[in-house]
Amino acid sequence: MRPIALCAIVALLAIFIITLATAPNSTYLNTRQDLAAANLRHTTSATTPPVATQIDNLRHRIDQLERLLAARQPESLTPLQPALPRASNRNRRRRSDLFDDGAAAVVAATAASTATAASSPAVVSAPTHAVPRSASTLAAALGPERLAPPAPPSSVPNASWWSPMQTQLPGGLWCPKPPEYAAAKPELRLVASPPTDKPVLTEALARKFASPDNMLIVTYVNYHRLDFAFTLVKHLVSLSNPHYLVGALDDEAGRGLQEKGVPTFFMNSGLTTQDYGWGTKNFRQLGLHKVDLVLALAKTGVDCLTIDADAFILRDPFPYFRKLAEADVLTSSDHLRSDYGYEDDGLEGNQGMSSAFNIGYIFIRAKALPFVQQWRDTCHRRPNDWDQVLFMSVLKQSGARTNGGSRLRDMFKLPDGGHLKVGVLPVSLFASGHTHFVTRMAHQAHTIPYMVHTTFQYGGAQGKRHRLRESMIWEDLPEYYAGPKFLRYDADLPYDLVYPKGGEVRPDGTQELSNHMSVEQHFTLVNHQLVQLRNAFALARELGRILILPRLVCGLDRWWAPHKNVIPGSAAQLPLVDCPADHVIDVERMGKPELFLRESSFLCNPRLPAAVRGGIVSVGLDPIGVADAGAAELGAGLIASLAANGAKVLSITSPLVDYRVLLNGAKRKEFERTISSWGGLWCCKSPPGGRGPGHIWYDFLNDIVPHVDRHNRKWDAPWSPTMGP
Ligand SMILES: *[C@@H]1O[C@H](CO)[C@@H](O)[C@H](O)[C@H]1NC(C)=O
Repeated sequence: MRPIALCAIVALLAIFIITLATAPNSTYLNTRQDLAAANLRHTTSATTPPVATQIDNLRHRIDQLERLLAARQPESLTPLQPALPRASNRNRRRRSDLFDDGAAAVVAATAASTATAASSPAVVSAPTHAVPRSASTLAAALGPERLAPPAPPSSVPNASWWSPMQTQLPGGLWCPKPPEYAAAKPELRLVASPPTDKPVLTEALARKFASPDNMLIVTYVNYHRLDFAFTLVKHLVSLSNPHYLVGALDDEAGRGLQEKGVPTFFMNSGLTTQDYGWGTKNFRQLGLHKVDLVLALAKTGVDCLTIDADAFILRDPFPYFRKLAEADVLTSSDHLRSDYGYEDDGLEGNQGMSSAFNIGYIFIRAKALPFVQQWRDTCHRRPNDWDQVLFMSVLKQSGARTNGGSRLRDMFKLPDGGHLKVGVLPVSLFASGHTHFVTRMAHQAHTIPYMVHTTFQYGGAQGKRHRLRESMIWEDLPEYYAGPKFLRYDADLPYDLVYPKGGEVRPDGTQELSNHMSVEQHFTLVNHQLVQLRNAFALARELGRILILPRLVCGLDRWWAPHKNVIPGSAAQLPLVDCPADHVIDVERMGKPELFLRESSFLCNPRLPAAVRGGIVSVGLDPIGVADAGAAELGAGLIASLAANGAKVLSITSPLVDYRVLLNGAKRKEFERTISSWGGLWCCKSPPGGRGPGHIWYDFLNDIVPHVDRHNRKWDAPWSPTMGP
C-alpha cells in the first residue's frame, strides 16, 4: 500500500470515528468538558462505547498505521546521518582507525569514566560511560546578553521562548538565548574494546546502575533508531545522571550501543534468566515488549522510569521524584491543558486525571509490582487492546480516591488492602509534542521542561527529528552542523496575512482565539510562504547548497480529525508563529531531508561551529520576471555569479527570483515533480455534505496556472483550498 493511501485511510478513519462519536447532531466536540459530557451521555447507552474510548481507539489505529507506514518506507528505516555506519563491521574498522594508539584511548576512557563516577552525586561501582560529562560549557561559549527588543511595528513577533534574553553567539549573530541543553556536547566516542557479551536484564544489572536511592532510567531502541538513544544518552551525560540502561530490541542495536559505551541489555537474545530475563519467545507484538519490559523492571526491585525512544530528558527527573517520595506511579499524559498553570510544577489535578495517560514516560516504584503484573497479564489476554488504555483501566478498576490535599490519587487495591498513590505529571514540564511545540507551555513559563515526548506530530521519525532540531534538543553529528554550504533568505511575511482580522497582537505573536483566521486565510498565508520556499529550494539546488528554512507561520493548528482551529481541548493560541515544519512540509516523503534543508533555528544553535555563523554573506538579487526578455539567460547569469560566491552561508536579502527563471526544460519538470511531492496536508475540517476526506493538500506550485499536483490532479484555474484525495 502506498503511504498516500495509508494517510488517506487514517484521515478517513478519523473522520468516520469522529462523525460516529458526534452523531446525531454532528457538531464537533470542542473542549475536554464537551468530551467528558459526551462521555457521560454515551455511558448511559449500553451499545455505544464512550467517546473517550472511541478516540483512544482512533489514536491506537493511527499509531498502528504509523508503525505500518514506518515499516514500509525504506528511507525512514535507514539511519539518519549519512555518516552513521550501517553495519557494526564498518564501525569496528572505523574504531581501529580512531584508536591507533589503543593504550592511550583506554587510559583516556578510564580516566573519563572515573571522573564521571567521582563527580556525580551517587558513585556507581561499575564504569558507566566512557565519556566525560560536560560541565556547564554553554555560558562560556556565549557572548554578551541583552533583553530581546520588542518586535518592530508591523513585523510578526517571535514565538515565546524559554528566556526573554538575546545572546550574541560566536560569529557575531544576535539570537534568542539558547537553553543549556543546547550546549555542544562531547561526541560519544567509540570505546577501545567494547564488550562482546550479550547481557540480559537481571536484578543485578538493574541494581548496579540504579542510584543509591534505587532509581533507574530505562529506554529501549532498535538499530534504526539508535540516533534517538544516542541523543538521550548525550543529554543524560551532560546532566551527570549515570543511572540509566538502554534496552536493545535487536542485536545490531546492542552492538551499536556497546561500541559507544552505553550500558545496555539485549531484549531479544534468547538468553533469559528465569526471573528477570528478556528474550523469551513471548514477544509476538511490539506493544507487548514494553509491557513485559516494565514488568521485568518492576521485578528487579528498582524504582524505574521507563521512557519511549522518542521521549527526551532535558532536566534530571530524580530530584522531582524524590520530592514525591510517597508516589508509587507517576505518568505523563495526553492532557492538553494545564490544571494549575504553566508555572506550577506540581502534579495535574482532576482534569489531568481524567484525560488519557501516556505511558511513553512512566515512573513506577517496585512496590507497584502487583499492578504491573495484572496490567501485563491483561495486555497479553487482550492483545488487540492498546496497552496504554489498559494501563489506565487496570489502575482505575477500584476507582480513584483523593487523599487529603495531595494531588496523588489512591488507585489499584494492593493485596494488603492499601492503594497505590498515582499522579499525573504536569503537562508543561513533562510535555507532549503538542504542549511543548505548539502550545509552548514551558516557553511561556520561561522554563525548561524535564521531558519532551514527540507525540502529536505528522512526519514519522523524520518529523520527530525535525521538531527536535527546531527546538535544539536533537544531537546531530558534527558534519550536520559543519555543512558543506548553506543558503538562507529573508522571508517576506506580510503582517496583514498573519493577522487578517486585525486586533491586538500579544508579545509572543498570538491573538485572542476568537480572532482566528478562516481556512482560506490560513492557506493564503501558507501559500505565500510555500512559493518563496519553492523558489529558494530551486536556487539552493542550482548552487549545491542546503537551504536553511525560515520560520513558518500557520494560521490554524493541525490534527488527525476535523477541528475548528486548534485540537479539541487544547490550550494552544493562534497563529502559530513558529509552526513546526511537519505541519506543512512532508519531511518524511523527502526521505533524507538532511540532504536538502536545515531547521529554522539552525544558525542560532550553539552546536554550530563559529566559522559557519561567521561565514554569512548577504546578497541582494536584481529582479528578473518570468516574462522578461532573455529571462533564461539572465537566470543563468545569476546562477553563475552566485556560484562564484564561496560564502559558507549565502544570505539572500532581496525577494527571490522565480524557479522558472532558474530552471528550464527537463530540469524544471523534474524539479516540479519533486517539489510538489514535498507538500504535506492540512487536516482538517468536515467535508461538505459529510462525505469524503476532509483534508487539504499543500501545493508548492499553488501560484502556477496550469500545473499538476502531487496527486496528478491538473489545475487549470487558480488554486483554491480543495478537499482530498
Ligand atoms: C527573533 O528571532 C531571530 C532569530 O531566531 C532573531 O534574529 C531576532 O533578533 C529575534 N527578534 C526579536 C525581536 O527578538
